[in-house]
Parts: sequence; structure tokens; C-alpha cells
Amino acid sequence: MPAKIIDGKKISDQIKTEIKASIEKDFLPKNVRPGLAAVIVGDDPASQVYVSSKRKACEYVGVHSDVFNFPSDISEMELISVIEKLNHDDKFHGILVQQPLPPHIDQKRINLVIDPNKDVDGFHPINFGKLLAGDECFVPCTPAGIIELLKRHKIETVGKHVVVLGRSNIVGKPIAALLIQKSPNANSTVTICHSATKNIGEFSRSADILIAAIGQPEFVTANMVSENCVVIDVGINRIEDPSAEKKYRLVGDVKYDEVSKKVEFITPVPGGVGPMTIAMLLKNTLIAASKFYNINLNA
Ligand code: GUN
Repeated sequence: MPAKIIDGKKISDQIKTEIKASIEKDFLPKNVRPGLAAVIVGDDPASQVYVSSKRKACEYVGVHSDVFNFPSDISEMELISVIEKLNHDDKFHGILVQQPLPPHIDQKRINLVIDPNKDVDGFHPINFGKLLAGDECFVPCTPAGIIELLKRHKIETVGKHVVVLGRSNIVGKPIAALLIQKSPNANSTVTICHSATKNIGEFSRSADILIAAIGQPEFVTANMVSENCVVIDVGINRIEDPSAEKKYRLVGDVKYDEVSKKVEFITPVPGGVGPMTIAMLLKNTLIAASKFYNINLNA
């Protein structure tokens, strides 16, 4: 049986519609709107594409957004002073600094400078710590999107074995932290596999839910998964393809053609987790703005 496809595009569209409606109902009558500042350093083509998609999504739902582009030789001090200005700019309730940053800029220092109340990426150590403690905080967008995909497909997580491939601060660690919490859409047993893990296949084959976030094209093959598995593919890898118009195509961390013939659910690439990351960024921006303006989103 071919897998059921988890349609991230469709679910992200639903979430965007909900956010748009909330802005129209809760913000516009008060003559205010949520605002997002996106900071991008250098000209990494993938980052340019991501930020442009984020901007378009903001426009669609009614979030005010500005993109601040800087050359790759901007100094760390200059970038810090840009962020400090944005921290004090009341037009912006969310600030995101697109990763990766050039090597001379210390990502950890930048994460520390963003006001935790505007940290819609959830990368500030205060938000990261609260996430681990199970306290209310900004949850990083990709892990938040994965939880939302599972929830909206009514995929049970309680007591399930989730195997996460990858231990990044953006995906692997935070999704593990979310899924071990004692809460209805979590409460899983989580294993994190990484580059030093021996016999990854033994772990992945025992997964009820497999989350692949290692940035290695088509790493997960059919012999690494069991039937009944729910496969969440976080990878977005560009691989050369002379026959494609852009001379490359996007593949995930999962060998989709063979794995999708075997498992129960799968997310495609593109159109799976990617659009959810953007939807959750908008959601976090909406929440940040609602706190700033003291608006009750559930009223
Ligand atoms: N680079 C890859 N994913 C992300 C993300 O979620 N946020 C930011 N700021 N940069 C990224």
C-alpha cells in the first residue's frame, strides 16, 4: 500500500487562513497589525528564496514585514547594533535572522541579542531553556510545524517511539524536547541518532515516527523503515539535475520513491514540512504582537 501523503502545503494554507482571519478580527479594528523584521546577511541563494517566501506569506496574511539585507562582510558589531535597533522598534514584534550566517559572525552571540519577546524563531537561550522545561515560550518554527502536522492528521504520539535523525539546535534537539513533554500531543519515547550513532538502521526500523533532519540527500532508504511508520522528512537538499530548468532539484533526507511505497504516512519534499515552517513563523509573530498589544487571541 502506498503511504498516505501528509500535505504540508494544504495544512499551512489552512493555518495562514486562520491567521489572516485573526488579524482582520483582532488587530485591524484597533488600527494595528503584527510586524516582522527579517535580517539576511550575504547572498546565499537558498536563504534568499526562504526569506522571499516568508515575505510573501506575511503579505498574504496581513503581517507588515521588512527585509534588511546586508553584505556578507558586515561586522558582528554592526549586525548587533542593527538587531538592537529592531528590538526597540515598535513596528516589529518579531525578528528573525536568517541562518546560516557567515563564519566570522558568532551565531550564538546573535541569538543572545534578539529580545526574547521578539524571538519568533525560538533560538534565544531563554526560549530554548523554557522549551526544555515545558514552559510557555516561542517554539522554533520547524519543530512547531511538525507537531502541528501530526496533530492535524490525528497521528498518535503518546507512548510512541519517535526516532529523530539529527541533533541540530534548529530541529533535532527542539523536536525531541517537545515530544518528551508530558502533554497530549507529545508524551513519546524519543531516540536521537546522530553522526556518531552506530547502526542507525536498527533504531530507525524500530520507529513508529521517524523524523529525518540531517541534511543528507536521500539518506533514509526503504530497508531502514518499517511498515506502519510515519515518516517526517525535514531535509531540503539541492542536487544537480541537468534536465531541470534550474539545473537542480530539491530532494529530502528520505528516498521518497521507495520509502513512500512501504510506510503508512510520509511528508513530501517540497510541500511537506517546508511550508509549515513559514506558517508557524507567522503564528509566532501573531502571538508576539498579541502580547505587545495585549490582545486576547481566543476572545
Ligand atoms: N535557516 C534554516 N531554517 C531556519 C529557520 O527556521 N530560521 C532561520 N532564521 N534561519 C533558518
